Amino acid sequence: MFKNLKNKKKSQSIQEHSDSDLHNIPEHIAIIMDGNGRWAKKRKLPRIKGHYEGMQTVKKITKAASDMGIKYLTLYAFSTENWSRPESEVNYIMNLPVNFLKTFLPELIENNVKVETIGFIDNLPSSTLKAIDKAKEDTKNNTGMKLIFAINYGGRAEIVHSVKSLYEQLSKKQACAEDITEALISEYLFTNKYPDPDLLIRTSGEQRISNFLIWQVSYSEFIFNEKLWPDFDKNELENCIKIYQSRQRRFGGL
Ligand code: FPP
Repeated sequence: MFKNLKNKKKSQSIQEHSDSDLHNIPEHIAIIMDGNGRWAKKRKLPRIKGHYEGMQTVKKITKAASDMGIKYLTLYAFSTENWSRPESEVNYIMNLPVNFLKTFLPELIENNVKVETIGFIDNLPSSTLKAIDKAKEDTKNNTGMKLIFAINYGGRAEIVHSVKSLYEQLSKKQACAEDITEALISEYLFTNKYPDPDLLIRTSGEQRISNFLIWQVSYSEFIFNEKLWPDFDKNELENCIKIYQSRQRRFGGL
């Protein structure tokens, strides 16, 4: 009886705490979903089982982030460097968006979530691209959270691509070096429609950026979470947001 009362009080205080901070939630969260392989290895399972469980976590975190009122959630699903993994693993990961959208698209629509991508998606297998295109089409009028998959994405390749396009435009106009500004380069990045991430989370305890949004995270808060991605959950996301809220962002000022 006493224990129940204590638990009730505890859950009330978490509720009060999260309610009181609702105004300061990050607008844009980017996540490096790391640790699927280790999660599987710990259980003596094949690596692809880790990716399967990782996909289930994507569903849970998408729902949680949308419910919290996050406006942009960018997830690093496949990097330009991930092609060097064994072919069977690459094929499995490439099929995940198909599997994910087959089972989760109705819920995304119901939750007013808009599916978008960044990366060199034209190089994806046609079945993957077809599923992604359908999800984009079916959610294009949704006005809620933007769920942005970084897929066949690399920050350096993105910058090279951006500078090439920019060069083509500028040379047509006979522009000069002074015309090149940070804002102009940003306009040519895949992310030109989105604000920079406020918060970057990487799971699995690794403390690297791995070529993810290298231009855009200049002033983001970084949180390195110890959980392996399949074990990451709503509670961990809330903890990350609380840590974010306890930090002071100065953007280079005082
Ligand atoms: C990194 O873990 C994870 C990946 C390269 C794949 C990420 C993909 C998902 C989480 C599922 C994506 C779902 C959709 C819907 C696109 P790792 O394999 O490098 O783990 P390890 O470092 O423990 O080996």
